[in-house]
Amino acid sequence: MITTLEPQLLQTLRDKITARTALIGVVGLGYVGLPFAVEKAKVGFKVVGIEQNPRRAERVNRADNYISDVSDDELRQVVASGRLHAETDFARVTELDVVVICVPTPLTKNLAPDLSYIESVTSEIAARLRPGQLITLESTTYPGTTDEVMRPLLERSGLKQGQEFWLAHSPERVDPGNRRYTTKNTNKVVGASDPWSLDLATCFYQQTIDHIVPVSSAKAAELVKVFENTFRAVNIALVNELALLCDRLGLNVWEVLDAANTKPFGIMPFYPGPGVGGHCIPIDPHYLEWKAKEYNFNTHFIALAGEINRSMPEFVRDKAWRVLNRLGIAPSRAKVLVLGVSYKKDLADWRESPAIEVIKLLLHDHAQVSYHDPYVPQIEVDGHALTSAPLRPESLASHDLVIITTDHSAVDYGLVLEQARAVLDTRGVTRRQHPNHPKVTLL
Ligand SMILES: NC(=O)c1ccc[n+]([C@@H]2O[C@H](COP(=O)([O-])OP(=O)(O)OC[C@H]3O[C@@H](n4cnc5c(N)ncnc54)[C@H](O)[C@@H]3O)[C@@H](O)[C@H]2O)c1
Repeated sequence: MITTLEPQLLQTLRDKITARTALIGVVGLGYVGLPFAVEKAKVGFKVVGIEQNPRRAERVNRADNYISDVSDDELRQVVASGRLHAETDFARVTELDVVVICVPTPLTKNLAPDLSYIESVTSEIAARLRPGQLITLESTTYPGTTDEVMRPLLERSGLKQGQEFWLAHSPERVDPGNRRYTTKNTNKVVGASDPWSLDLATCFYQQTIDHIVPVSSAKAAELVKVFENTFRAVNIALVNELALLCDRLGLNVWEVLDAANTKPFGIMPFYPGPGVGGHCIPIDPHYLEWKAKEYNFNTHFIALAGEINRSMPEFVRDKAWRVLNRLGIAPSRAKVLVLGVSYKKDLADWRESPAIEVIKLLLHDHAQVSYHDPYVPQIEVDGHALTSAPLRPESLASHDLVIITTDHSAVDYGLVLEQARAVLDTRGVTRRQHPNHPKVTLL
């Protein structure tokens, strides 16, 4: 049986969670926080969103959706019923029963963790903490953040974790754009350094998620998430390295991978591309690399994967110049259309996107660059604003080279191949419907 110095506090919060009368706060209404807030509101909880960007808070309160994984209808319903309301400050923290933190965890310029968002939010919460609250961290971070950074800040309030308040880490695993695995049916890892926090956090997440995976500490939960993203980064680097080797061997990397992936066991499909992007794969492994250094330990795989993945945009640039060279066009006279700038297909998110790096490199070589992306109307590259050009036959034909950097489903690749002079396909998207097309050079 669970015992605590304040058993009544714990039982009261547990009862409120199971009755869904607990008031939930979600700090940071972005790709992770907004879907989470809507899920909780959908099952009957009242949710207060705390979002520092006033435009985002205002849009939530108008039910004006800005995250593609959130359904417009569901957002409208939870806002109209008063179950979701966004605010821009922390004034209501004292009223909340559970506070879920979903703020960014970027890197500094020197690839060190930037915990300033987590620290600032935790300090705001600590200043208003009252007995009987559960705080959970969803942001991806290095092992130790919850116990070594958040806990001391929260205990400055004079309250003790495990006795008067509870603290847990439960890393978000959302795969933006994935229709099969949503928040509800994706197993959720939860860890905390005291049993009462683990029990409450598990109970809280069970309200909306089918299967909870408790682990013995917040540190273990933090490591689970960074390992998952490191696993992807390393495997993508492996196939990227294979692509670099195949280029030298004169072999088609896609053919090799397609054949390798027919093995019914012991292999997992990963594909090469122009690099890695988004808020997770290029960033999270470096959180672990940084933490490992505290223990005088070098995470060789992470460093190597980062090096290979970061080199891919340069390889794309070099391959593009080879194609243009065959056409007798110098880089400085080339007109290049970059097709797709978001980091992943069918999404609007272009944070850390390798396509942006490719554009930078092309511009640096004085090429004339335009882009098309059905999801991203505008981008900024090195201080220059660029607007997505319409994908029309005449505009395709007016470029010397089209580089497919993101394989959006909405693009008519048949039209691209028909009209473009030459195509560099870094995603292998044309190979199934148009194998060995004379205009196409694969990565
Ligand atoms: N996007 C993903 O696919 C994904 C998947 C799993 C985990 N994660 C992790 O989840 C965390 C959040 O990522 P995201 O993609 O949702 O980021 P995001 O940038 O989309 O959203 C974060 C939100 O927090 C707000 N914010 C920043 N500081 C704040 C403050 N002091 N007070 C209130 N609001 C504040 C921002 O304005 C923004 O709206 C990161 O640690 C990320 O690594 C992201």
